[in-house]
Amino acid sequence: MYKIIAKEKLCPVVDLMEIEAPAIAKKAKTGQFVVVRVDEVGERIPLTLADWNAKKGTVTLVAMQVGTTTYKLSCLNAGDSMPDLIGPLGLPSEIENFGTVVCVGGGVGVAPVYPIARALRQAGNRIITVMGARSKDLLFWEDRLRSVSHELIVTTDDGSYARKGVVTEPLKEVLERDKQVSRVIAIGPAIMMKFCSLTTKPFGVRTIVSLNSIMVDGTGMCGCCRVSVGGATKFVCVNGPEFDGHQVDWDLLFARQRIYCDEERHSLELWKTRQCQHA
Ligand code: FAD
Ligand code: FES
Ligand code: MG
Repeated sequence: MYKIIAKEKLCPVVDLMEIEAPAIAKKAKTGQFVVVRVDEVGERIPLTLADWNAKKGTVTLVAMQVGTTTYKLSCLNAGDSMPDLIGPLGLPSEIENFGTVVCVGGGVGVAPVYPIARALRQAGNRIITVMGARSKDLLFWEDRLRSVSHELIVTTDDGSYARKGVVTEPLKEVLERDKQVSRVIAIGPAIMMKFCSLTTKPFGVRTIVSLNSIMVDGTGMCGCCRVSVGGATKFVCVNGPEFDGHQVDWDLLFARQRIYCDEERHSLELWKTRQCQHA
């Protein structure tokens, strides 16, 4: 069993959990993820390692409530345990001194961007970070990102905090003004990563995205996380999760993300009904 030793609400729909998992914490590398099972009969879901502490033997996960499993996860508290936490999975991020790197985090994507920006900064890069959310109440970790960035730009879609608009607008401006940018890392909703990739393409700047396809085993066995990158079939769990955003077949990813929409909606309604009956 994997014990939750601390829980923090980062915003109304996003929870941070620090979990005892010494073997994973010892091996964890930037950009990797775990597969979690919240209860004995639960499905498996992938969550990125937002941080880890090898000495303490803990990993930190940041999860946004979007459906049954993430709602169930948000009901757990410090002291509770979960039956399965498998990892670290996936290939680590490429960390080198590239020069100037723009890190873009959208919504809950801010959490996986943080350890990457930190590692790139430690490797000697100049870090420009753009972080965005739909509104002020969905923003978190501005302080953490500021601490690892030479420049930080914050956006909200509705203008309730900082600059009004979406992350692609400042991203374009940075690329126009700073010809030294050698790499962009964009993590967030798939639609955001697609538009970041479209924004950077005319500038010819290599753009890395972390794909969030549906996963089951997380070890390359089930084929569930299949995507097409540069015309070749790739499995996000073992060949990724990071890929060249200019090569991703985004329409295929969107279509495969929606495959179980009806079942997911039905499952959430059922779970909420049961919660109300037990309340
Ligand atoms: P559901 O209602 O079942 O699904 C909502 C949507 O989430 C679906 O339409 C689908 O697009 C996606 N989804 C559903 N099941 C899965 C699944 N088994 N695997 C992947 N996506 C699924 N979210 C975070 O909040 N924080 C993270 O750090 C994070 N890291 C991720 C890392 C990777 C490598 C991947 C692939 C996804 C990551 N996600 C992360 C997304 C997270 O896994 C999904 O939000 C979660 O699985 C949704 O499950 P649900 O039952 O709550 O929602
Ligand atoms: Fe099964 Fe990737 S999750 S092959
Ligand atoms: Mg689900």
